[in-house]
Amino acid sequence: MLGNLRARGCNLAGVDACTSLETQVSRFLDCGWHGARAWDMVQVYQSLPNGERQRIERLEMLDEGELLVQLFQHYAITIAWVAKLDELATFPGNSQRRGSAMCSHPCDEAVIATNDDASECKRSAVRLGYWQDDYLGYFVKSPAERKAPEINRGYFARVRGVEICIEKFLHRTAGNPCQIINLGCGFDTLYWRLREAGHAIANFIELDFPTVTARKCYAIKRNKRLLDKIHVAEDGEVRLSPTDLHASNYHIMGVDLRNIDELHNKLNQAEIDYTIPTIFLAECVLVYIETQNCHNLLKWLAGHFPTSVFVNYEQVNMNDREEICRH
Ligand SMILES: C[S@@+](CC[C@H](N)C(=O)[O-])C[C@H]1O[C@@H](n2cnc3c(N)ncnc32)[C@H](O)[C@@H]1O
Repeated sequence: MLGNLRARGCNLAGVDACTSLETQVSRFLDCGWHGARAWDMVQVYQSLPNGERQRIERLEMLDEGELLVQLFQHYAITIAWVAKLDELATFPGNSQRRGSAMCSHPCDEAVIATNDDASECKRSAVRLGYWQDDYLGYFVKSPAERKAPEINRGYFARVRGVEICIEKFLHRTAGNPCQIINLGCGFDTLYWRLREAGHAIANFIELDFPTVTARKCYAIKRNKRLLDKIHVAEDGEVRLSPTDLHASNYHIMGVDLRNIDELHNKLNQAEIDYTIPTIFLAECVLVYIETQNCHNLLKWLAGHFPTSVFVNYEQVNMNDREEICRH
């Protein structure tokens, strides 16, 4: 995995925070988040509803059960919160608490390409019935290549784990306006899946490099089924540029998350409300951001969103990464 990424010029610039569950937690605490907890994917997978696990375990036989355990041990979900949202952090396991430059870095292109990998892996799992996603196919055009059963199951745990965090947040904020901000959104279809499930989010904001958001905007524009689910204000206006799209409750914008001024500016364009409950999602994103830039980002978010929760899915236990490199 890491070997592949490096061979393609994709440096894991933020890998220092991925040494252990403790470093994942302390990264948030050091940036002003009031509390944080982290679970490796073994723990997350075991906490998923029995019925769901039994169903997907019947879909495919694993080639190598041990490989799946190793994969699960090397990914984690971390939940961090600022004020009042700590009760969302309830996977089982250990806990710790306390109180526009476009692509200016040489390896950004390789980082951007990780979105294609993630989308293709999700497509493989969806095609085999691990979960339902009627929208992914609008973004990923290449024929779905069948991935190894361990990869499919790993993606299932990732997608369901993150989804459960979001469901808890929506339950906790039910009846009140709330925001979702998807950092490094790639081709994630969460917005459409939530709409289909009947959730009305006051503001859903997606951010990624302009190269990625341009492709996502293009797909949205061209597919009525995607466009129809975007809520349009009474005046019927959807504002579009090649990389950004603004509707009344959905915004997607091209931005380098390392550039805080640009981020601030973009969030204001999306009519962000700093006061309402907000959930940030980062699925395999922070690991690609240099440690100091990531620190600045997390600190800025903690300082500007007084009622917020951050759900981070990414690598962990990278101190024994040579072991997993062999796979
Ligand atoms: C592995 S992909 C994951 C995509 C999506 N979160 C998912 O899980 O399907 C990582 C994404 O993070 C984005 N990304 C990484 N660094 C970024 C940065 N500095 N600014 C904006 N986006 C970034 C990449 O372009 C890519 O789309």
